[in-house]
Parts: sequence; structure tokens; C-alpha cells
Amino acid sequence: MKLLSGIVSAAVIAVPMMFSTAASADGGALFKAKGCAGCHAPNAMGAIGPRLAGQQEKYIAEQFKLIRDGKRASGKSGMMAGAVKSVTDDEAAAIAKYLSAL
Ligand code: HEC
Repeated sequence: MKLLSGIVSAAVIAVPMMFSTAASADGGALFKAKGCAGCHAPNAMGAIGPRLAGQQEKYIAEQFKLIRDGKRASGKSGMMAGAVKSVTDDEAAAIAKYLSAL
């Protein structure tokens, strides 16, 4: 885990040096890598899950964590919860930033 978090930290530091729009590039990659795009559509306009594009950054991050942690059990939340267990708070924050800017 230590090694993995080291790699993640290195990526978080390295990415801003490569792109001027660091957070959005990183969040966009995570949105696809973590499977969000499969349910919320690649453009985040909604499919199985609702539209996330253009939602408030804070709202996305908060609702994401509630669903992941099983604290929001409304509607089809349970369907998503199992698929996103491994997504960290930091990753969710980067994804939320990316989505709010779409
Ligand atoms: C297996 C399909 C699936 C995957 C994978 C998935 N979601 Fe979802 N997501 C859903 C569904 C279905 C809902 C609607 C839950 C409900 O009915 O309340 C939802 C709801 C949400 C909401 C709340 C939206 C709102 O308007 O309240 C957020 C935020 C969200 N997802 C973010 C993500 C992120 C970020 C990822 C990737 C890390 C992700 N989801 C992966 C299916 C999925």
C-alpha cells in the first residue's frame, strides 16, 4: 500500500507539470479508468446513472462518498456502491473537479 500511494502521489505531482489543466486531465482519466464512464456515459451526460456533467463539484464529491460508503441508499445507489469501493476520496475529488467543469 505504501508503494502504491507513493506511485499515486508521484502521479499527482507529475501530472500538473505535464498539463496546465492538471486536475481536469487527471479527473478525466480517472472517470474512465474507475468505470464511471460505463454507467454515466463517456461524456457524463447520463446513461444507467444520472448526468454528472456540469453538476456542482462539492455535490458530486459528497454524493459520491455517501453512495460509496452505503450512506445513501436511494433509488439505484446500491448498484453503483459495489462498483466504486476502491475509489479514494482524493480520486473522487479529482473526478468531481473534472465533471463540474464539463
Ligand atoms: C454500475 C454503474 C455505476 C458506476 C460504475 C458508477 N455509477 Fe455513479 N451512479 C450510478 C447510478 C445508478 C446512480 C443513481 C443512484 C440513485 O438512484 O440514487 C449513480 C449516482 C451517482 C452520483 C449522484 C448523482 C446525483 O445527481 O445525485 C454521483 C456523484 C456518481 N454516481 C458518481 C460516480 C462516479 C464518480 C463514479 C466512478 C468512480 C461512478 N459514479 C460509477 C451508477 C454507477
